[in-house]
Amino acid sequence: MEVIRIEGGHPVTGEVTVEGAKNSALKLMAATLLAPGVTTLENVPNIADVHVMGKVLKELGATVEVVDEHTLRIDTSSVDSWETPYSLVAQMRASTAVLGPLLARFGKAIVAMPGGCNIGARKIDMHILGLQALGVQFDMDHGDIHASAPNGLKGATVTLDFASVGATENLIMASVHADGVTVIDNAAREPEIVDLANMLNEMGADIQGAGTPVIEIHGVGELHPVTHAVVGDRIEAGTFVAIGALVGQPVTVRGFDPQHLGLVLRKYEQMGVTIERGRREVTVSRTAPLMPTDIQTLPFPGFPTDMQAQTMCLLALAQGTCIVTENVFENRFMFASELQRMGSDIVIQGHHAVVHGVERLSGAEVRSPDLRGGAALIMAGLVADGTTTVSDIYHVDRGYERFVEKLCALGAQVRRVNMLDPSADEFAMRVR
Ligand code: UD1
Repeated sequence: MEVIRIEGGHPVTGEVTVEGAKNSALKLMAATLLAPGVTTLENVPNIADVHVMGKVLKELGATVEVVDEHTLRIDTSSVDSWETPYSLVAQMRASTAVLGPLLARFGKAIVAMPGGCNIGARKIDMHILGLQALGVQFDMDHGDIHASAPNGLKGATVTLDFASVGATENLIMASVHADGVTVIDNAAREPEIVDLANMLNEMGADIQGAGTPVIEIHGVGELHPVTHAVVGDRIEAGTFVAIGALVGQPVTVRGFDPQHLGLVLRKYEQMGVTIERGRREVTVSRTAPLMPTDIQTLPFPGFPTDMQAQTMCLLALAQGTCIVTENVFENRFMFASELQRMGSDIVIQGHHAVVHGVERLSGAEVRSPDLRGGAALIMAGLVADGTTTVSDIYHVDRGYERFVEKLCALGAQVRRVNMLDPSADEFAMRVR
């Protein structure tokens, strides 16, 4: 019953440090299954999705020790189950990342079939086709996927129809012990894939080409546990970059590699934003009005779908009209309908959005449609007239650690309000 309430128009400026990448940490946690023993993961974000993946691993028989806020010690030596129930997959689709590691370790896995989610159908047919090429047989039973490799996994060449992040990761993890060489053609190139391959190579795997469209995995014997730090979160960083671009006052974002946001930063420069790049940080500011620019989402190094909503928030206030094309997920424009309640002028045509810039947004009650859309609505509230109240904020908690606290540290007037206990709101106002 919590909402996030934002008083618009207050100066926002300063420095913020991002956490480790959600989309990497989840897969690295799954990958610990491949190296029986104690793996230590550092720079792990303290977010709801990581807690769900911890539950998945515990369900399989691992122990997950929280060493400190950002360090997990995961002991997978006594993992003795290969089944992940629907109750966990329903909470987080990325739970399916254990399919590949379980197949590699046990030659079998039972993983609940993920349902649709609010950013589209999100099928896993490419995971299944790719694993079949490695010798895995599949049966569907009462909503569960039963996978087994009775004759072991055998290296093969798999060409993906689309550079799917999840399919690339599952195939890498499934094939680390496979007999012979596995080649993934049209592989996803996201920095989180490189992070996964790096950790697996540190564990003793032989993976070449991660970060390029062709990844080659030479099957090896046992992997050994390691200590590994999660790569910085380029999407959390991009969200704060977008906030800096929106408010105009300088915002310095630290803790990530600016090259991982290459196209986003170049597009923002086209929009009139000034960006100073450092090795592990950028400083964003803007004095001129925001200019329109067309964007289309594509797999890395294209424009990330996970930055689409935050960028549309900027374009909604630009001086002119532009087109945003979503090529990765269906149904990822629900954020736009909520932004309409704040006075934006956006027309959706299939997977295109025509965005006519308006002069101002006005605070309203809006609902967070998904993780990135929720962050973008909070962002819109920073510059909207009056008060914006964003509900369904559990989406935001899935992927942003201490988002409200970080915004407050930048000077924003933002707070969580428990709708069942309005006095908590007054308390929050007093302590700030
Ligand atoms: C991951 C990220 C997500 C990001 C996305 C694209 C995690 C936990 N999530 O999601 O934040 O937005 O990459 O960068 O890492 N598809 C199929 N069949 C398949 C697999 C995918 O049709 O077997 C489709 C999906 O429905 C989607 C598109 O391919 O339309 C891209 O999906 P994919 O790259 O696999 O995204 P995820 O790994 O689910």
